Amino acid sequence: MIEQGTPSDIFAVVLAGGKGTRMKSNRAKVLHTLCGVPMVNYAIQAIRPLVPESLFVVVGHQSELVEAVLPDDAQPVLQKEQLGTGDAVRVALEAIEEEEGILLVVNGDGPLISPGTLGELVERHRSAGVGATVLVAELPDPSGLGRVAEDAGVVRIVEEREATEAERRINLVNLGLYAFDLAEIRDALGRLEANNSQGELYLTDALEIIGRRSRAVTYRLKNLEEANLVNDRAHLARAEEIIRRRILDEHMRAGVTVRDPASTHIEATVEIGRDTVIFPGTFLRGETSIGSDCVIGPSADLLDTAVGDGALVEHSVGRGAEIGAGANVGPYAYLRPGTVLGKKAKVGAYCEVKNTRVGDGSKVPHLSYVGDAEIGEGANLGAGTITANYDGVNKNRTVIGDGAFTGVNTNLIAPVTIGDGAYLGAGSVVTHDIPPGKLAFGMPARVIRDSPNKKAKSSIGKDADKPEMEG
Ligand code: UD1
Ligand code: CA
Repeated sequence: MIEQGTPSDIFAVVLAGGKGTRMKSNRAKVLHTLCGVPMVNYAIQAIRPLVPESLFVVVGHQSELVEAVLPDDAQPVLQKEQLGTGDAVRVALEAIEEEEGILLVVNGDGPLISPGTLGELVERHRSAGVGATVLVAELPDPSGLGRVAEDAGVVRIVEEREATEAERRINLVNLGLYAFDLAEIRDALGRLEANNSQGELYLTDALEIIGRRSRAVTYRLKNLEEANLVNDRAHLARAEEIIRRRILDEHMRAGVTVRDPASTHIEATVEIGRDTVIFPGTFLRGETSIGSDCVIGPSADLLDTAVGDGALVEHSVGRGAEIGAGANVGPYAYLRPGTVLGKKAKVGAYCEVKNTRVGDGSKVPHLSYVGDAEIGEGANLGAGTITANYDGVNKNRTVIGDGAFTGVNTNLIAPVTIGDGAYLGAGSVVTHDIPPGKLAFGMPARVIRDSPNKKAKSSIGKDADKPEMEG
């Protein structure tokens, strides 16, 4: 019997150094994302409850890119040459000084493995008092995976490439998750030979070595969904679909209505408040957060966008935008980075807004481009109002005051300021600042007389709920 360590004696290694040839990709396999999260991070998340410290990740192929996505509590270990899974674990062991304990090894390409399963694997390993325990499953289609034969304390794994006809018919497969006695695996790795078709050091051979010395056992996976390992892009899609459904289920159980789960894509990082309704064809990605009582979609595509309570976003795209509570976006609006919509603001059909603050209750209802601007509260931009923010060299700012009104087809040649309560006639081309409370029109627009909109200025904010003046 082997002395097993206490829980704090568990060390974990995620193998993420390989290329993933079967992905046919220029990107390392473990960098491919599932619902917005790189594959390698799923393995790390699954390990963390069990091994909060001493979590190592073997990186190799595109090591810098892989390191860049790792969380702070995962320590990268560089495998300079990808000489096989056995070599990868050997490299990781160089970073571990302790001589006693349990080494949990997790292939980085099993994004559905749960913390529960890892816990059970370690439990099984401890209670059996063996040198090595490997997670296995009986799959209807075992192709591509190592086949497992267990006999009297010895577990033998043969890779498909090296398997005989009879071995290929075995349906019991190696899922690439192992618990090892630390001293045993150290010793066994020193004895590995690359006498296989790949000329690699196979970690799986260590199981047989350990088995012969001090027994090895298998542990059978209970939930076969977790056996969705990713070796090619068809596997990737299958695994992502399961994760996507899980994310949706979680939101629905938390009080979000999802009208059509089949066409709704919500990444793992997204937050949504209760009583929000998500309509079909919607993509919520990155650091997007949605408040409660919102109506999102159909066909909303929001990336890194924050949406306040009670907002409405239909048929629109948001990128790094902030949408205030009760605001109304779309249909067919494009909110680019730096867009901040105030409470009950409106950006309507065929409008593009960039790096612009639209104040509370202000409206950009139709066919506008507004870039690098600051719009006060209760302003109304007529259809086709355009900020000419770029003179070919510089990006210039436009400031539009509280309660200001622009007629249809207004061109605002930045830098320019439209004063509070100013009123611009249709077709104005504004090249100079318009003082507050003045009416201007023409090309270029000249000040003519007092603005009829002066009244509006004194009631700014109060009439935010009223229907907009049509442009
Ligand atoms: C491995 C197992 C196989 C098992 C399968 C489960 C071996 C020899 N075979 O095969 O029995 O059924 O996993 O998925 O272990 N890696 C490195 N450095 C390397 C090589 C690989 O870090 O030098 C990493 C990879 O990035 C990957 C993991 O190890 O995350 C497994 O490597 P992979 O090439 O996918 O192994 P398989 O051929 O799938
Ligand atoms: Ca694999």
